[in-house]
Amino acid sequence: MPTVPSITLRDGNTIPQLGLGVWQVDPGITARVVTDAIEAGYRSIDTAEGYHNEEGVGEAIKRASVPRGELFIASKLRNGGHARDQALSSFDKTMKALGLEQLDLFLIHWPVPSQGKYVEAWKALIELKGQGRIRSIGVSNFNQDHIERIIAETGEVPAVNQVELHPYFQARERLAYNLAHEIHIEAYSPLGSGSVLDDRTVAEIASKHGRSAAQVLIRWHLQQGFIVIPKSTHKARMVENIDVFDFELDDDDMKRIDGLEKGERGRTGSNPATASFLF
Ligand code: A2P
Repeated sequence: MPTVPSITLRDGNTIPQLGLGVWQVDPGITARVVTDAIEAGYRSIDTAEGYHNEEGVGEAIKRASVPRGELFIASKLRNGGHARDQALSSFDKTMKALGLEQLDLFLIHWPVPSQGKYVEAWKALIELKGQGRIRSIGVSNFNQDHIERIIAETGEVPAVNQVELHPYFQARERLAYNLAHEIHIEAYSPLGSGSVLDDRTVAEIASKHGRSAAQVLIRWHLQQGFIVIPKSTHKARMVENIDVFDFELDDDDMKRIDGLEKGERGRTGSNPATASFLF
């Protein structure tokens, strides 16, 4: 079984560089999907209250052949739960659904600037970390101005920022601030929610290495030091996506994939500056 390298976060904790994302995994099949992933060698699972599948993740953790201490479980605070009391009760709900005493990583799911409460949410995460209920805290979908604000108001720097990132949507200017502050980038939709899998350039590079398009895309992330959480509900694809530690893309491959950037047109999800949906 492949061994996934660990990344050391700025708070000293470690996270597997590759994990399974379960966004859009149907709650009814989540326990099976996460069990398949653990059997395939995944030790890191990324869920969220907003995915409505934390219970399935919890069921898979309970029945796993692997001890809890070897798993890295991450979840996220829902957008409607930014006020302190709601954040604390949302967190309790998450922990009950997962059946866990301590969470490895908890993120603010979206900043929702129009709601204006993400600093309050960040303070609640700091409080929970102080109580030892969460090992690492971070954010998701935060732009530079959002991160600057939480740091200015609390002094606490997030361990990670989970953002949409793939060859069609790199928007590198937003990554620089994170990298300068040792905030690790975690790439969601690393395959562009599947949109980059049929790319001709990626197919050429895949055939050169005798690997699949998904494997090439995952290598592209790993070789830049990003944490990456591809999603699949199919065990054979999970096995394929983690089987990426025995080959390397060369500089030319990396540059060709960098050249696929489409800017805003490549974005598949919502824009964090304007996303205002509450859940
Ligand atoms: P499925 O879940 O049916 O396997 P992303 O991680 O960027 O969100 O991309 C996820 C999408 O890519 C899903 O539609 C998933 O489909 C598909 N996918 C994941 N891994 C592979 C793979 N190795 N080959 C083909 N499609 C894949």
